[in-house]
Amino acid sequence: MSLVKLIDLPDLGDHRGGLVAIEENQAIPFPIKRVYYIYCTKPDVVRGFHAHRALRQVAVCIAGKCNILLDDGNTRVSVDLDLPNKAVVIEPLIWHEMHDFTADCVLLVFASDYYDESDYIRSYDEFLTLVKK
Ligand code: TYD
Repeated sequence: MSLVKLIDLPDLGDHRGGLVAIEENQAIPFPIKRVYYIYCTKPDVVRGFHAHRALRQVAVCIAGKCNILLDDGNTRVSVDLDLPNKAVVIEPLIWHEMHDFTADCVLLVFASDYYDESDYIRSYDEFLTLVKK
């Protein structure tokens, strides 16, 4: 399985400005149960630092930019989220960290399930143990 799965969200913009339409089971490869967004993050603040056991997510910066590091336990890849139609899929058992938020960044995330703290793996050692099984 490829560590980095980018989605080119359909941009329907024209001379009046941008317009991106996002539909579940279309551009987003799962039924969407939750949407959340991260904003007003200070440039020197990092977020994430966890993996999920089952949750699937798609993240896109609809304003500003950030960088997301994806780690499957063997390989670490860093992806710039720097366009409002460039989304990345965060699959289960992928450790992810978000860095380098610009002050204007709004990171929008689509999730396949409701919030459930028990789905989080917040220890990198535990994550490595799980993925190397
Ligand atoms: P957390 O997942 O730690 O944020 P990040 O991945 O950006 O570092 O979430 C921060 C807090 O918000 C934590 O207490 C869990 C809570 N939270 C919810 O209640 N619902 C949600 O949908 C999300 C994403 C977080």
